[in-house]
Amino acid sequence: MKRDLGDLALFGGHASFLQQIHVGRPNRIERSRLFDRLSWALDNQWLTNNGPLAREFEERVADLAGVRNCVATCNATVALQLLVHAAELTGEVIMPSLTFAATAHAVRWLGLEPVFCDIDPRTGCLDPAAVAAAVTPRTSGIFGVHLWGRPCAVDALEKLAADTGLRLFFDAAHAIGCTSQGRPVGSFGDAEVFSFHATKVVNAFEGGAIVTDDDDLAHRIRSLANFGFNLRTPSAAGGTNAKMSEASAAMGLTSLDAFPEVARHNRDNYEQYRRELARVPGLSVIDIDPDERHNYQYVIIEIDEEITGLPRDLLVELLRAENVVAQRYFSPACHQIEPYRSRQEAVHLPHTERLSARVVALPTGSTISREDIRRVCNIVRLAATRGSELTARWHQQSGAGEQGVVPAG
Ligand SMILES: Cc1ncc(COP(=O)(O)O)c(C=O)c1O
Repeated sequence: MKRDLGDLALFGGHASFLQQIHVGRPNRIERSRLFDRLSWALDNQWLTNNGPLAREFEERVADLAGVRNCVATCNATVALQLLVHAAELTGEVIMPSLTFAATAHAVRWLGLEPVFCDIDPRTGCLDPAAVAAAVTPRTSGIFGVHLWGRPCAVDALEKLAADTGLRLFFDAAHAIGCTSQGRPVGSFGDAEVFSFHATKVVNAFEGGAIVTDDDDLAHRIRSLANFGFNLRTPSAAGGTNAKMSEASAAMGLTSLDAFPEVARHNRDNYEQYRRELARVPGLSVIDIDPDERHNYQYVIIEIDEEITGLPRDLLVELLRAENVVAQRYFSPACHQIEPYRSRQEAVHLPHTERLSARVVALPTGSTISREDIRRVCNIVRLAATRGSELTARWHQQSGAGEQGVVPAG
């Protein structure tokens, strides 16, 4: 365990971990089950095109989401594009800026304008009052994001959508298996999108899915994902190929088998982080409602530089030196990156900017042990409780001279 600043790898001490531990490491699965499924697909020579494994995966995801329809896709970014296209959104789409670039890019890719809206600082998700204020005659839809798996204010957004006649969708990339007031994520708005990227709590190597109770929308999406074949009303854009392969579905099913155990392990990890970082001034692990179901796939800490004296980016940097690959999820926010920054220079989202500058995702998942967390927390505690001294020493060592010069990386 590290006791003094000189023990930190940033200042020449040994790295805490010999090998890197990452945010978003793939969770454990039962390999024999995956190999059995792959063998079965190979034996039957059905490798893609709405195969039996993809259909089984869709049924299980629809079940988890509590809806009638699920269309599995090659990833969530394409699923978002399909949804925007199938729903015939036009003009402007309101969304949070505190999200992964894919939410905005999917809309932009189709020539529409993402309109970034501020968040409720307590949840990190869209503030319904800010959404209402952002509606213009060009607005056609709202995209909420269940950030870190914590559901949006779904009731207020559903009411707003009903009152304004706007379509309402959710990017639920982080939120498989989560609930809001006991209702499963996947069942809100007109449709929701999950990601099954390798870094996600349920993974299909690469994968995504759109879930909805709108049968017409589901039919349209399924057709558009398969070159536009069988569309009742043809699309001017034709169609695309967004299908999930059988190999991905085999992984997705095997990952779903492991999901309850992974979520339990994640919950234990989250609670350990909370305990170990509980009494550090200026540092908090974000709340997760214990009365809801949650996948606990992200452990997010918020660091207050004014109290700790430690800039968030320096914390990330010093963790890297210890072979702990933490992530700034999500920083910079979308309105602060291109192609949006120069288009929307006047956009100022105070709650988004404040939270985005303070958050760090720490490693969790089924390959992270109690001992790993003990060591990560040891570093974070040492750094945060002696933040001013550490920062001064780092500036002196790096010759940066000026306060606030911390490389982003
Ligand atoms: C909020 C959010 N939306 C969309 C995506 C895109 O998912 P995919 O990598 O499956 O395209 C991600 C991926 O990390 C995400 O975090």
